Amino acid sequence: MKFIHVTDTHLVEPGARLYELDPLERLAQCIADINRNHADAEFAIVTGDLAHAGKLPAYRALKAAFSKLRLKTHFMLGNHDNRRNYLAVFPESPLDANGFVQFSFDTAIGRFVCLDTNEPDVPWGILCDARLAWLKTELSRAGEMPVYLFMHHPPFAVGLRRMDEVALQQPERFAAALAGRRNIRHLFFGHLHRPIGGSWRGIPITTMRATSHQVALDFVIEGVVPGSHEPPAYAVVLADSDQTVVHFHDFLDKTNTFML
Ligand SMILES: [Fe+2]
Repeated sequence: MKFIHVTDTHLVEPGARLYELDPLERLAQCIADINRNHADAEFAIVTGDLAHAGKLPAYRALKAAFSKLRLKTHFMLGNHDNRRNYLAVFPESPLDANGFVQFSFDTAIGRFVCLDTNEPDVPWGILCDARLAWLKTELSRAGEMPVYLFMHHPPFAVGLRRMDEVALQQPERFAAALAGRRNIRHLFFGHLHRPIGGSWRGIPITTMRATSHQVALDFVIEGVVPGSHEPPAYAVVLADSDQTVVHFHDFLDKTNTFML
């Protein structure tokens, strides 16, 4: 099965720039590239920070931009998002019983469980009692079925000092919810604006660069996030019962291709 992972679109009002970039123009190029090369994917998932400042015009622009994508898209929230404004523009969004934008859906390879870690007015991620209970219920409903987890905030540190401070604040609660389960196949997340793979407590993990601005690879600077203009990316995921392969694609790369 093929699906597309996009993250951190950080849209602002159409025409406005963010860190010297036009995030809407970049997203349009990302969507055009997916349409050209991966229209056969099953769906796309966007792991949050849909809008940079959580404003209505940005969500309207997001909706218009993704209306051009030839794939069904699942949207999730990040810390930059505003749940109320998002829902005003996306009233069809799935919600849990407490109004969080978290949902599960079944695919040919297993159940995809998408968490809402947004907490208003703070940059870090939260797994409160209500969201933890929802996660436990979804995992228990999945039974032995393979589970693929999606969330904006990683539940672990990666060595980027300020970003590590604003990761999920309850990693042990999250880990406890997963403990003993051997069917968690992969954890996809956003937030870091960098290509990162590895594993956490035995679970394979990946994230990649944003479609907007990036975070610099710097393990020294504290207290602020060093930005970077490294190229944007999306990921093409090829997954079946044996393996999960994540291809990172720099969709603005203009270097030529040739036959070896
Ligand atoms: Fe972000």
